[in-house]
Amino acid sequence: MSAPDVAALFRQYFGAEPEVVALAPGRANLVGEHVDYCGGLVLPVAIGVRIGVAMRRLSPRSASTAVSGTGAEGAARFDPLALRPVGRWTDYLSGVAGVLAALGTTIPPVEVAVASDIPVGAGLSSSAALSVAAAMAFSALAGEPCDPRALATVALRAERSFVGIPCGIMDPLAVSLGRAGHAIAIDCHAGATELLPFDGAVLLVDTGAQRALVASAYRQRVTECAMALDAVRLVDPATRDLASASPAAVEAALMSPEVRRRARHVVGEMARVRQAIAQLRASGTLDGALLSASHDSLRDLYECSTPALDWLAREATRLPGVAGARLTGAGWGGCLVAIGDDDALRASAPRLAAGFASQFGRPPRWWLLHAADGATLESGHVAHRS
Ligand code: GLA
Repeated sequence: MSAPDVAALFRQYFGAEPEVVALAPGRANLVGEHVDYCGGLVLPVAIGVRIGVAMRRLSPRSASTAVSGTGAEGAARFDPLALRPVGRWTDYLSGVAGVLAALGTTIPPVEVAVASDIPVGAGLSSSAALSVAAAMAFSALAGEPCDPRALATVALRAERSFVGIPCGIMDPLAVSLGRAGHAIAIDCHAGATELLPFDGAVLLVDTGAQRALVASAYRQRVTECAMALDAVRLVDPATRDLASASPAAVEAALMSPEVRRRARHVVGEMARVRQAIAQLRASGTLDGALLSASHDSLRDLYECSTPALDWLAREATRLPGVAGARLTGAGWGGCLVAIGDDDALRASAPRLAAGFASQFGRPPRWWLLHAADGATLESGHVAHRS
């Protein structure tokens, strides 16, 4: 079932109307990869695929249950106030409920239905979307709706402390604050955001690769960036974070060749994001070469690409009208994002997919999407409190 049908899934499964329905989009990052947890600048768009969370309060001491997808797997019992993750998707619900409870929000037992159009495991932030939509639903049920920035902070805290991934603020902020026709420039150090006109389409092609190793590889990169920062600070003690380090300090600092490659990526990527932001401010268009240079850096310096992503990035930019392409999200599988002329992207997608299928033996899923609005509460379902 898709996101807009989530109220129908809820009715079908629980035999009642949901009190709240929250919808949150996925995201594609245009440029600024692996810099959010280094205090850098990123430039994502929220995209027109969504996850829906429908919820209803139960009487005190009832067991909470959640159903997802088509409901075929049945409802899972879960504890919204669990102290530890149990290794199921409901951990995202418990994670945000726990953070909200710690902030003073009353979390009652609930019934929850979740339906999504965001492909899971494709690097399009289905987990941040679930967390933001769940936080929105829980806080609306309590009659204390959070503003979009607070929702993003709750989602980030839940993912870091409860689910245990040391990710940055990019995904929840993009999911909360996205705007149709716009990219969002986010300064991940200051938390400042700026909506910039971007009304072109993005082509997303999913390599469909197994992403089981992403969490451990991601943690390793976060640690390597922390090591690089320590080394840079011995050369230049005033360095705020790795994203603000000067290229000269990165070269002068004592670090292993591997750690230096990570640091070179971060400072080089920062220069590309700054250029991209300046271009969007000035003209609303983006030079695709910045995306392609970002891909090369992620492949050679950050070493988070895969042969399938490299193949897609190379072949995509050979097609007429495709301005640039790169892996988007954490990497190690997941999606390619390509920008360019809308008609050219539409015409290129089937050719790219056919070439990929003959090269890798499986047809990839792909989507042609535009920048979309961030998370919303469906007003028809909002609880009326007496
Ligand atoms: C994942 C994380 C983000 C970000 C990207 C890489 O999507 O959730 O915080 O670090 O990887 O840019």
